[in-house]
This record gives sequence, C-alpha cells and structure tokens, in this order.
Amino acid sequence: MSIVNIRREGEIAVVTVDNPPVNAISAELRQGLSDAVAALDADAAVRAVVLTCAGRTFIAGADVREFGKPPIPPHLPDVVNAIDNAAKPWVAAIHGAALGGGFEIAMGCRFRVAVADAMIGLPEVTLGIIPGASGTVRTPRLAGVEAAVSLVTTGKPMKAPKALEAGLIDAVIEGDLLPGAIAFARDALTRDLPQPLSARPLAPMSDEFWQGARKAASKAGHQAPLRALDSIRNATEVPFDAAMQYERETFLDLRAGDEAAALRHVFFAERAAPRPAVIDGIDPRPVTRVGVIGGGTMGAGIAAACRNAGLPVVLIERDSDAAARGLANVTKVFDGARARGILSDEAHAERLAGLGTSDDYAALAECDLVIEAVFEEISVKRDVFAQLGQHCRTDAILATNTSYIDPRLIAEGLPHPERFIGLHFFSPAHIMKLLEIVPAPETAPEVLAAAFALAKRLGKMPVRAGICEGFIGNRILKRYRAEAEALVESGIAIADIDAAMRGYGFKMGPFEAQDLGGLDIAYLQREGARAEGQDVPETLGDILVRAGRKGQKTGGGWYDYAEGDRKPRVSDTVAGLLAGRIAGQRVMDLADIAAHLVGAMAAEGQAILDEGIADQASDIDLVEIHGYGFPRWKGGPMFAAGRA
Ligand code: 3HC
Ligand code: NAI
Repeated sequence: MSIVNIRREGEIAVVTVDNPPVNAISAELRQGLSDAVAALDADAAVRAVVLTCAGRTFIAGADVREFGKPPIPPHLPDVVNAIDNAAKPWVAAIHGAALGGGFEIAMGCRFRVAVADAMIGLPEVTLGIIPGASGTVRTPRLAGVEAAVSLVTTGKPMKAPKALEAGLIDAVIEGDLLPGAIAFARDALTRDLPQPLSARPLAPMSDEFWQGARKAASKAGHQAPLRALDSIRNATEVPFDAAMQYERETFLDLRAGDEAAALRHVFFAERAAPRPAVIDGIDPRPVTRVGVIGGGTMGAGIAAACRNAGLPVVLIERDSDAAARGLANVTKVFDGARARGILSDEAHAERLAGLGTSDDYAALAECDLVIEAVFEEISVKRDVFAQLGQHCRTDAILATNTSYIDPRLIAEGLPHPERFIGLHFFSPAHIMKLLEIVPAPETAPEVLAAAFALAKRLGKMPVRAGICEGFIGNRILKRYRAEAEALVESGIAIADIDAAMRGYGFKMGPFEAQDLGGLDIAYLQREGARAEGQDVPETLGDILVRAGRKGQKTGGGWYDYAEGDRKPRVSDTVAGLLAGRIAGQRVMDLADIAAHLVGAMAAEGQAILDEGIADQASDIDLVEIHGYGFPRWKGGPMFAAGRA
C-alpha cells in the first residue's frame, strides 16, 4: 500500500491519503498527490476526484519534523498548483482537521466539504512561520481579504459551520462524509465549475485597513503574524505567481529563524510532557466527581475549571458563611464569562447546578478526587487531611494545591498514602494552563496517571515536578526575582529591568508583576521561614513591605500609582527606602539585562534538572511559558540559554 491510493466510484475517483498518525505532508505524500493528478488527468473515464483521508484526520499540515531540514521536491506549492489546475475538479472531503498545508491542499481543490465537527485553519504563525503553499495568496481569493487576514494572522482554527459562513468551505456534510462528498461532486458536475483560485482576481484594500490589521497583528509580539500580513497585502498588489514567490521566500526565511525553532521546540515539548514514561501503559484511576476544600482564590478557580470540564463538584468550606462566600466566588467566575459572551445563560445555570457547597466533609463520600486549597499553613492543611482520611473513600485520590509546603509533611499519617499527590494549579486556576503534578514517594502509578488524565480533561498543560521548595516554577521565580533585585542593588534602575523583560517578550517585568500580585505573599513566606529559624537574608522587597508598600493594592510597591491608575511611576520614596542598599547608578544594555535574567532562570532550571526535580529541560520551558508569562516564541529559558 502506498500512502496515496486511488479507487473508483463510477466516474468519480476517490484519492485516499493514509499517513498515520495525522496524515502530515511528507515528501512521499507530495509525490503521491502529484502522481495522482497526472494519472487522473490522463484517465478519460474520470470526471471528478474526491480527496479524502484515512484515520483520525484530514491532512494536518506539513511535517513539522522536516522543518529543520532542506526541502525535498516536489514542493508543496507545486502540488497545490497541480491540483488547482487539474483537468478534473477535485473535492476535498474533510474530517478531523485540515490545517496549514492540509488546508492549502484543500484550497487547491475546486471544492471543499467537511463534516460539522471538522476544524479548518492556517496555524503556521503559531509555529513562527507563514503559510508556505499559498495560504496567504489563495485564502484572500477564496474568502476575501478580511477573512484571510483573520485566519492567517491569528492562526486560530475554526469549526466547519463557521468556515462555511466565512466562505472557506462549500458545504457541511450531514451523515457519512465520503458518500456525501461523492454526491456533492456528482452534483457539481451538473453546473458550471468555478475558476481555479489562481485565476481569480483580488481587489486591493485601503491603507487604513492595513494599518488596523498591522496593529492587531503586532499584539502577538513576534514577527510571523506581521510577515504573514505583509504577504497577504502583497498578494493583493501583484499577480498570483509573484505573490507565491514572495510568500515562499518569507516562509523559507522564517522557517530557518530562531522564533520558528523555538516554537517548534514548544510544539514537541507540549506533546511530550503529558505522556511521561512513568505512566506508560498505566490505567488512570477514574475521576467522575471532584471535591474541593477551600473556596478562596484557588479553590474557586479549581472548582470552576472542573465544572467547565463537566465534572460535578462539591466545595467544602469552614462554615456555612464561608461556604456561601465560596459559592459567590465561583459564581463570579461564571458571571464574568457570561458578561464576556463566553457562557450562555443556560450554560451558566448548568455550571452552577453541578456545584454543591457544604461545611460537612460527609458530602465528599462519593468523590473520586478531592483537591485541598485552604490556607498555606501546615497545621490547617493537616487538619483537613485528617478529616479527608475519615470521610473519603479509601481509593479516593487526595490532592494538595500547596505552593511551598513539602507535600510529604501534609500527608504524614494519612491512611492509604498511595492515593496522595500534589496538584499545583496557578492563579486564576480556571484560566492558567499550567498544572504541576507532584507525586509523593508513595503515590501509586494509577494515581499519577489520573492526575495527567485530569489535566487533559481540564485542558491544562501538565508537567511532573519533584519535591523541593517551590517545585519547578516558584523555585525559578524566586531565583529570577533575587537576580533582578541583585541588579537593582548593583545600581540598575528598576524601570530598566522591567523594560528589558518587556522588550524580551514578557507582558510585564518582574517588579511590575510583583506590584500587581502583591509583595506581601512572598514576604510572609520569607517571614515564616525566618520564624522557623532559617537564615533568610533581608530582601529589597522586605524593606518595601515593612514600609507598607505591598503593591498596587496599597497605592505603591516598587513603583507609585496614582489613584485609580495602574500606570507604574518611578518612585522617589522607593529610591529613599532602598538608598542604603544600592551601589550608585549603572546603565546596562536592555538586551544584556534580559540575557542575564534568562540565564539565571536557566541556571536554576539546570540545578532542578540535575536534582531530578524535572524530567527534561523542555518541561521547565513549558512551566515558564504556561505559568509565568515567558514568551513562547523564545522557547523557554532552557531552550533560549541553549542557543545563546
Ligand atoms: N508534523 C509532524 N508531526 C505531527 C504534526 C505535524 N504537522 N501534527 C501532529 N504531529 C504528531 C504529534 O507530534 C504526535 O506525535 P507522537 O504521537 O509521536 O508524539 C502525533 O502526531 C499526534 O498528534 P497530537 O497528539 O497533537 O494529536 P491530536 O489528535 O490531539 O491532534 C491535530 C491532532 C489537531 C492535527 C494536532 O496534532 C495539530 O494541531 N497538529 C499541528 C498542525 C499544524 O500545526 N499544522 C501546520 C503545520 S505548518 C504547515 O503546514 C506549513 C505549510 O503552510 C507549508
Ligand atoms: P485563600 O485565602 O484565597 O483561600 C483559602 C480558603 O480556604 C478560604 O476561603 C478559607 O475560608 C478556606 N479554608 C481555610 N481553612 C479551611 C478548612 N479547614 N476547611 C475548609 N476551608 C478552609 O487562599 P488561596 O490563595 O486560594 O490559596 C489556597 C492554597 O493554594 C494555598 O495553599 C496556596 O499556597 C495555594 N496556591 C495559591 C496560589 C495563588 O496565587 N493564590 C497559586 C497556587 C497555589
């Protein structure tokens, strides 16, 4: 069997691509399609061709693994052109996903039909490239410039019914795809055929339109969306062949660049992290009902995340008043989603209907998983786990969301310790993608596997982390902040450090971020350690908190803030408070500041790896990207340091 096979249904030829797992476009696949066009053009008995795929999806795009290597002919643009200019009309029959080069092949076809749950998209910019086989040239000819700009510069795929509305496909097929597509092809033959897309004209757009589009595309922070926009604009201004050449040159240029290499690294890292070898072949313990202890910031977010994934939730608080506050906290999350149009009234009601609240642990009897998110105090947590030990099923998984406390201390004395695990969510827990999964020495493999299965169900990015202070993410954060403070002490301006990290791609620098989140949390943690007799040197942050500067909520932290304004202003008060610790003034190139701080993160990451706290460097990169705002297109600190 070849990976491209042809069979007949009367005058319709059916070309089936079969290249598991996702029908990615290899050299063999390109050759197979090219040969199929030639063979079917030469076959007088064939009047139309249906292109379909075996397995779980239509062609999911170019083979990302080939991107680091020299391109092998036939090149995809030529294959798409050959289909577009074939003597017989081709109909793409789409199920699963038609992404990137897959959708470009579909655009070469004279028609596109899809089942209702199929996804259509040009996600190339998310890989740091632009479409390389006419995505920026054919899409505007197919669906108009505006639709093309949106599809190509955001990289966001859309479901078939929306794609139909946008003019990207011709029909949504109800029922079986292949017979539907064949019937569509037969019907199309009774009418005049549309022109090939390469022959369709394209009207230029106004400068104003392009300015608006540029502003929107620049928000992504990296260059691919802007270069994609340039290519679409060029396609509206020059003939088809010249537009194709421009697109190809841009594609090859970006493909060889640092941002594309970083984004490819993240692509594969994200597929590796959810499947660590330790859970290979292990059946996860099933989770169908979740308990959450504590309805504060984290508990409410975790409960909301579980409800969004369709899991029934019981929320336990200290007393009935606290339970009511917990319910209000979760409700606020859903109210916000409804106000933003993400949640309908029915969905809002359904989310809340599946949420029970109580101050009685007996309500947890049916839960398969209970996640504790109470105050960060060992005695409070231990009391909670003593209750859980009494009231939960012996096979119910019991998890802690602690940020810093050693999970082994929390679980001490717990009956059936093999069911205990750390599940470290990030705030806001219904939004942030990262989930650090922290097994204790006794944690059973099927409990660990259940944690990864839960992450998948919640749409989270799971990373296994070993036990140490702060696990992976908060440990690196501590080092990052300490290193940033050391730069301040050496005379570099606070505002320069923040500007450097923004310039690198973070939404906020380390000091602005602390002002937003509050300086007191880390301060209290340090004070706790000091109270236990640990030698924790005074940080600059400690000096500010002691002076009442806890961040935006107190009107000032590292910066001053005017009433009702979040704009950080350089603070003379801070300069005065820290004067004794700062050695004069020093200017450092912003890029050097960023390189220094990213290097410090990577050095801590290396220590984490050496200690076995993380399994692989790419997991550390994912933690930083999904939990701490590290720019995805820089690949994470470990990747960036490896290329510096
Ligand atoms: N190239 C190479 N391998 C790919 C791939 C691709 N484009 N897409 C997926 N894979 C691999 C994955 O690495 C994974 O391999 P593994 O099992 O060995 O780890 C396997 O296929 C299954 O992938 P998923 O786990 O992601 O499978 P799902 O069923 O969850 O999702 C999918 C399927 C929606 C197709 C998803 O894989 C996806 O989004 N893939 C990327 C699609 C993409 O970005 N395409 C554009 C490529 S760029 C391009 O086409 C340029 C063109 O313009 C010239
Ligand atoms: P919070 O103070 O907002 O909420 C804690 C809740 O627990 C309160 O509603 C309180 O009433 C409840 N509670 C206290 N004792 C209880 C008991 N015995 N039984 C039932 N409920 C009880 O705290 P937050 O921020 O939600 O933190 C909770 C846990 O999550 C902590 O361990 C924290 O370290 C961790 N965490 C916090 C993050 C954050 O950004 N806030 C991020 C990740 C983890």
